[in-house]
Amino acid sequence: MTTKRYTPWTADRINSQQGRRVVITGANSGIGWETALELARKGAEIILPARSQSKADDAITRIRRQVPGAKLISEVLDLADLSSVRAFAARYIERFPSQSLDLLINNAGVMAVPTRELTVDGFERQFGTNYLGPFTLTALLLPSIKPQPGSRIVTVSSSAGKWGKLDFDNLQSERVYKPMRQAYGQSKLADSIFALELQRRLTAIGSPILSTAAHPGYALTNLQKGGSGEIGFVLQLLSAALKPVASQDAAHGALPTLFAAVAPEATPGGYYGPDRVFELKGHPVPVPIPKTAQDVSVAKRLWAESERLTGVSFGPLSAVA
Ligand SMILES: NC(=O)c1ccc[n+]([C@@H]2O[C@H](COP(=O)([O-])OP(=O)(O)OC[C@H]3O[C@@H](n4cnc5c(N)ncnc54)[C@H](OP(=O)(O)O)[C@@H]3O)[C@@H](O)[C@H]2O)c1
Repeated sequence: MTTKRYTPWTADRINSQQGRRVVITGANSGIGWETALELARKGAEIILPARSQSKADDAITRIRRQVPGAKLISEVLDLADLSSVRAFAARYIERFPSQSLDLLINNAGVMAVPTRELTVDGFERQFGTNYLGPFTLTALLLPSIKPQPGSRIVTVSSSAGKWGKLDFDNLQSERVYKPMRQAYGQSKLADSIFALELQRRLTAIGSPILSTAAHPGYALTNLQKGGSGEIGFVLQLLSAALKPVASQDAAHGALPTLFAAVAPEATPGGYYGPDRVFELKGHPVPVPIPKTAQDVSVAKRLWAESERLTGVSFGPLSAVA
């Protein structure tokens, strides 16, 4: 009897990305930057929207140091401001008309904002940045995505989605605000629900575009530096305890996203995370999707509410029952 040997998936396994165009949000830092670096190595053309032109330019300079001649386009996008999301999408469509995009990676996010803050549009900052902004961006760019196998939309979620609860009476955290467990958890659960519901709707209209999701485990990035005060202290304690045994660098944290984005083995609606130490570190494998994310009635309600809040429509996908 022969036993199959498990070969951990690494960035070396990524096929050529020559001729493919990619948008990655939050690519000036952490996991997004590492994702951009690996796709640039493989020849993709990457649009990197950051919160300021200088952050995007700096990210591009750092990638070109390792990949001279990388095809990179600097852009500006603030997911906490829907007018910025609309303006970015409009500039994209003007520059690259018709179906011109192979891959959209919704990676950008914030975690554990210490006190309740609002986005420009009046959404709770984590729900707005991590979920409603990417929801809007996806709706606006979907008509630009090539309707062909290989086209994908990747949503970067988090293990925090597992313990997050979706409370339709507290979506904007007006009644209760707990930075990490409740507000961040809810925003990341919403990401997982969105990724799966998007796939359900794409499948229903016969689209070959895939929606996949990923989480990086515990990767050392700027994300953990966000909190201050009590929550910052707790995060620092947690980091100090977990770091030596259960963390990984941002490059490893990017592997599940890269797998979800380009691995031929990724499946429609698939969710990928690290394989070791309670999904905190390691190489990408399929991981369980939170139960709530699999509840179609919750997903339909969230979708309708998100379209109402943001004012965007997903065209034919909006009509799917
Ligand atoms: N690191 C982990 O252990 C971990 C675990 C689970 C999930 N995640 C998820 O992984 C993703 C990437 O995070 P990371 O760890 O790489 O953190 P990071 O280094 O802090 O990167 C986050 C990126 O998101 C951008 N961003 C924040 N607010 C934005 C806004 N309003 N509009 C546009 N971009 C915005 C940041 O831009 P600025 O540089 O301007 O702030 C930065 O480029 C996030 O979705 C996060 O929730 C990370």
